[in-house]
Amino acid sequence: MGRLNGAAVKQINGIIDRYKDEETPLMLILSDIQKEYGYIPLEVQELVSEKTGIPVAEIYGVVSFYSYFSLTPKGKYVIGVCLGTACYVKGSQNVIDKFSELLNIKPGETSEDGLFTLDALRCIGACGIAPAVSINGKVYSKVSVNQVQGIIDSYRQEANN
Ligand code: FES
Repeated sequence: MGRLNGAAVKQINGIIDRYKDEETPLMLILSDIQKEYGYIPLEVQELVSEKTGIPVAEIYGVVSFYSYFSLTPKGKYVIGVCLGTACYVKGSQNVIDKFSELLNIKPGETSEDGLFTLDALRCIGACGIAPAVSINGKVYSKVSVNQVQGIIDSYRQEANN
């Protein structure tokens, strides 16, 4: 988002106004901003603070605590590898390491071309198909290290079409 332009300020003000009658509007405001922009940088937190009177430190605390919120832009494809117990014992650490190696990013980072973000997840409720990987909400079951390259290639191809 960089420096906020007039249109962005107007839109964010609009989101804040939606919840002006709520007693505790912060989560609702931040959820809508996350949904519409994909991330919540500091300048947006400052704007929310100005408009609502909620201190920036408190807003920052919420944004950085919940993994749903992001401080930086995410890639077009967000790869979440479950590291919950069931997935872990079935080798999900090796799977995330392979994504990491092939994409050249650590968990929490986004590839330079902006295509992929890699995230480590806690149990996503799909333990029966461990190790589970979720990409933009699509869940892959029993993912093995050998499949990782193919999965990445299929998204690269999709992005080129
Ligand atoms: S531990 Fe991975 S889905 Fe439950």
